[in-house]
Amino acid sequence: MSDVLSFVDSNLGRFRAEMYDFLRIPSVSAKAEHNGDTRRAAEWLADHLRAAGLEPSIHETPGHPVVLGEWRGAGAGAPTVLIYGHYDVQPPEPLEEWESPPFEPTERDGRVYARGSADDKGQLYMHVKALEAHLRTAGTLPFNAVVLAEGEEEVGSANLVPFVERNAERLACDTVIISDSNMYAEGMPSVLFSLRGLAYFEIRVKGARSDLHSGQFGGPVVNPGNALAKIIASFHDADGKVAVAGFYDDVAEWDVEARDQIRSLPFNVDAYKKDLQVAELGGEKGWTTLEKLWIRPTCDVNGLLCGYTGEGAKTVLPGKAMAKVSFRLVPTQTPEKVKKLVEAHLKKVTPAGVTVELVELHGGRPWKAKVDARLLEAASKALEEAYGAPAVLQGEGGSIPIVVDFEEKLKASALLVGFALPGCNLHAPNEWFSIDSLEKGIGALAILYGKLG
Ligand code: BES
Ligand code: ZN
Repeated sequence: MSDVLSFVDSNLGRFRAEMYDFLRIPSVSAKAEHNGDTRRAAEWLADHLRAAGLEPSIHETPGHPVVLGEWRGAGAGAPTVLIYGHYDVQPPEPLEEWESPPFEPTERDGRVYARGSADDKGQLYMHVKALEAHLRTAGTLPFNAVVLAEGEEEVGSANLVPFVERNAERLACDTVIISDSNMYAEGMPSVLFSLRGLAYFEIRVKGARSDLHSGQFGGPVVNPGNALAKIIASFHDADGKVAVAGFYDDVAEWDVEARDQIRSLPFNVDAYKKDLQVAELGGEKGWTTLEKLWIRPTCDVNGLLCGYTGEGAKTVLPGKAMAKVSFRLVPTQTPEKVKKLVEAHLKKVTPAGVTVELVELHGGRPWKAKVDARLLEAASKALEEAYGAPAVLQGEGGSIPIVVDFEEKLKASALLVGFALPGCNLHAPNEWFSIDSLEKGIGALAILYGKLG
């Protein structure tokens, strides 16, 4: 075993204890009451970047700070690798559904349960430890390294694009590596070929001046709840396709290789349904489940608000209704164009007697990997060495909006390699990360770094 890997091996206990300290900080970016904690997570990370041998700096933004860690010891002729991750986490609610407290990392059955263990503090931290393994043993890396961690990924990364633009020279790099996704399955490491994009809206429907008695006014007065239901129903046709005119115009055809690759992956629909406790699956006709998840766009309600939802019955005709609706996008759809199409659609389908407003909350473009054969080979080999199984190529249904901006603004290609396991409850109660994957993943990253000269 190389010095680097034996360093990883002999320091695993410390790595785990440190990671749990990081996970104890409730860096919930969405909630102002956690602003102090979110900053504390940034500072914790900066301290640990320094301990790993990188030069840390904390950069203020109008929101949560950006943390950088730089090691430029490879010199001007060597490549530069930017490692991106996020130190913010999703709110943990509903708290009563957690079996152990979300910010008290707890080991059970070979897993550590904590908010952020998979998304993304745990995975970000693995990179820091793999860098440390090189810098504390060989004292060097075959590339210049820049770690960039943001505190606003879970709330749309609004301040990161301006930061990247302002610091494009400092962040200039050849490759961006990101671990903020899953492996295909336990024992099946993977590299991503795509991510979906996102266009997220609030649809506000307004009816009469206020809530009214539904007996006294129901009938002639148009009910915003009914109207919103009609609007939502109009978003899909009978075949499960999104029925917004022009929505599929920019959906690129995938090549045969990509579709064959998806079909070649083992996938058990019955186990999938059983795990989710649903009798049937839905969605767009004519596509497999993995295709629906990775290479087809969607429209989903994320939240609904209208009328009386408390205990018992209240005969009320609501004055307004609201839905949070998001579209997952695939290459080459853009959130800007989808917004225009949805606006036009709302004009057509909104019943007279109510008004509708479309408010954009956030968005991000979809990403398709440019195949960099050398990088892909280095990653596949490193994963195979660490996990003892070949890496597979897979898509992902989730979104990491900044990836496309990194590629465009820094003229680099991105490599997405995730270590969380399917079913790890991202954004949900009881988020977990496999301890085995923590150990193997740090090893895989350390091996990968050794190959990136
Ligand atoms: N880590 C996820 C993205 C992800 C999830 C990638 C699952 C692959 C598989 C990330 O933190 C996230 O949740 N992104 C948001 C984007 C949004 C807030 C703009 C998402 O996908 O909903
Ligand atoms: Zn997330």
